[in-house]
Amino acid sequence: MGSPARDADDRKRHGRHYTPPELADFLARRVLAHLPHPGPDGTLRVLDPACGDGELLLALHRAAARTSPGLRFAAIGYDLDQEALDRARARAADEDVDADWHGGDFLTAAAGLAERRFDAIITNPPYVRVQRLGAETARLLSREFGLRGRIDLTHPFVALAPRLLRTGGVLGLLCANRFLTTKAGANIRAVLSRDLPPVEIYDLGDTKLFAAAVLPAVTIAVHAGTGASCRHVSACRHVSAYEAPHAHPSSTADLFDALLADAPSLVARNGRTYAIEVGTLAAGTPVRPNPSTRSPDRPAATESSWRMSSPDREAWLAEVADRTWRTFGELAPVRVGVKTNADEVFIAEDWERRTPCPEPELLRALLTHRDLRPWRVERAANTRVLYPYDVTAAQRTPVDLDDFPSAATYLRSHRARLAARTYLTGGGRRWFEIWVPQRPDRWRAPKIVFPDISERARFALDRSGAVVNGDCYWISLADLDGSACAAEYVAQLLMGVANSALGLRFYDTVCGNRLYSGRRRWITQYVSRLPLPDPNGEPARRIAALVADLVDGSREADDSAGQLLDELVATAFGVG
Ligand SMILES: C[S@@+](CC[C@H](N)C(=O)[O-])C[C@H]1O[C@@H](n2cnc3c(N)ncnc32)[C@H](O)[C@@H]1O
Repeated sequence: MGSPARDADDRKRHGRHYTPPELADFLARRVLAHLPHPGPDGTLRVLDPACGDGELLLALHRAAARTSPGLRFAAIGYDLDQEALDRARARAADEDVDADWHGGDFLTAAAGLAERRFDAIITNPPYVRVQRLGAETARLLSREFGLRGRIDLTHPFVALAPRLLRTGGVLGLLCANRFLTTKAGANIRAVLSRDLPPVEIYDLGDTKLFAAAVLPAVTIAVHAGTGASCRHVSACRHVSAYEAPHAHPSSTADLFDALLADAPSLVARNGRTYAIEVGTLAAGTPVRPNPSTRSPDRPAATESSWRMSSPDREAWLAEVADRTWRTFGELAPVRVGVKTNADEVFIAEDWERRTPCPEPELLRALLTHRDLRPWRVERAANTRVLYPYDVTAAQRTPVDLDDFPSAATYLRSHRARLAARTYLTGGGRRWFEIWVPQRPDRWRAPKIVFPDISERARFALDRSGAVVNGDCYWISLADLDGSACAAEYVAQLLMGVANSALGLRFYDTVCGNRLYSGRRRWITQYVSRLPLPDPNGEPARRIAALVADLVDGSREADDSAGQLLDELVATAFGVG
């Protein structure tokens, strides 16, 4: 037996997170629901290309035996892990299941499999991030499977499915829900849109139905299906009444029954309440001002993230789109903060105690997520970053270390650690640089700063000239200059919308990327889509005035200010 640490590392490296039986049963039942006819000889041929100890194939066998007794069942399972395969073999023998278990890398073995023979593929493929795969493996996989961007191992497993399923064959996929909304997820969205239109998607969010660190989704897709309409259901922790406005309280329903119901509901499970929302799958956002783009795209638009659609949601989005002047992303770049890739060397609260202490000109206040309230920066600690760049230069220009002898000595004392960042030095950069320094000349200008991860938006205005850490994003007012209105005024509007209830609802409707306990990610991809109303309207003027007061502290950010803001923003977009 290995040590717990080594077991955990092994589990991560090979993406070994087994599917719990009740979720396996749900996935199996949904696959069968779309597989009315077995193959021509009355045998159901099924594959799990990463089968672990066989849970999914066995669940499919049990579900098929319940609904179609007498159906012949022929299963094939692959896995790298011999011990898991031994368990699968023993379990299948116990349950009298006809199955072949093969050891080895499925991505290589797939080339030897007859094409288009399976009625169903049921799988929870490994989820291993590209950093763990290594750059070379990632490049090879991208080339072989036509993938782009930051891939993980799930992508090639999904890319192989159309080649192995007969026409009308069904893919039952359990994987991270990130593919619905992230840029990298476009790889999976592309395969599904092109060859395997989904018929059901269950975004299981933070329901904890699955123990892995990723939040899961179940996708049922039919090879060469019509793609007419796809049911989209989401389940996530119910945090406030506002978040599931149409849900009917129902504390008795079983979560899996609720996922199959036509109406939204609230479900109690393990002492928590989850909101189940029901709709159809859509891609993209209705945008102004062209009314023809108002209806959601077909899921074929793989560059756009996928989201839930319903008549109520579309009506609300169309109203907002009608009154949208610009999106945030149209007005200014939304940038991530600095990333050093050696925080212990570059970031500290106790610089004076370090020897030698670098020159104060290079030590800059650093804003982290702990420093940000809605509207205002309130420093939690005197965190500073050693920022070795010329802050008057628009382009990244490292300082000359000869001009800063203390910083030079300090950095040289960490030279081995810093020079080991070969991805940086290999790109022709100096060994003492930070990985993502951002635009050095932009720090001095006022900026809107907000944490990447937070339940509600916490957009704050910073005038201190501080540098922003990589756990936050920022919009420079210098980038807003030259737009139709004064930068300060537009910034007040941006913050007003982002921090309002409408901003949150827009985020959930369009971006929908929730982490555990309702926390959201406020990253470029999502924030760029938020809408801004006509800046010349009376409601916009009142929003800006209110935000100005909240930012400078002449009005307290209490409930009544929040309510007034929500009303003004709703009025600006003409929605209730
Ligand atoms: C997320 S687990 C799922 C196991 C099982 N299907 C279940 O749902 O309980 C992923 C499995 O993929 C296996 N695996 C990882 N890379 C693989 C590869 N290249 N070929 C085949 N199996 C692989 C791991 O050993 C692990 O058992």
